[in-house]
Amino acid sequence: MSDKLVAFYSRANENYINGTIKNLNIGNTEILANIIAELTGADIFKIEQAQTYSKDYNECIAQAQEDQKRNARPELKIYPECLERYNVIYLGFPNYWGTIPMAVFTFLEHFDFSGKIIKPFCTHEGSGLGGSINDIKNICLGAYVETGLAIRGGNVNISKTEIEKWI
Ligand SMILES: Cc1cc2nc3c(=O)[nH]c(=O)nc-3n(C[C@H](O)[C@H](O)[C@H](O)COP(=O)(O)O)c2cc1C
Repeated sequence: MSDKLVAFYSRANENYINGTIKNLNIGNTEILANIIAELTGADIFKIEQAQTYSKDYNECIAQAQEDQKRNARPELKIYPECLERYNVIYLGFPNYWGTIPMAVFTFLEHFDFSGKIIKPFCTHEGSGLGGSINDIKNICLGAYVETGLAIRGGNVNISKTEIEKWI
């Protein structure tokens, strides 16, 4: 039983990678989350919306933007039962419209993270972590939010040294 948890959000299917739309079997952040879990021995949990966004890239973009505009809190499929035994949470997400996906807001608001170390990591197409760190800090009051890791989506498989250094 580990005292570390990798909790991440990721979406497979159509995505925009290095200028073209590609169909991914596994999302970029999920690949990165698996690498981090393997390197740290952490448990792993996937944050999933009850109603997933479209497999179509452009539709997904519109749905996510709409959810952000109305500050939605999409319902999640399941939650980890309890986070008590975890001291370190590696929190992974794709940059969605400059910050964390709204489902990650839902996840973060569900638990008390005070006293825990949060290590945020994201994949993106150019905007890095955006405003995500501030948003996480504003929700997870009392948590120690450490420096984030931002990897371009298409580079997750060639960034092991950077990932190891950040861990
Ligand atoms: C709804 C949506 C919004 C996005 N917004 C941004 C953005 O604001 N900035 C950015 O750099 N990339 C943005 N992207 C690109 C994703 O962050 C990037 O493709 C990421 O690697 C996807 O991770 P995933 O495959 O784990 O879902 C967006 C992608 C989607 C689907």
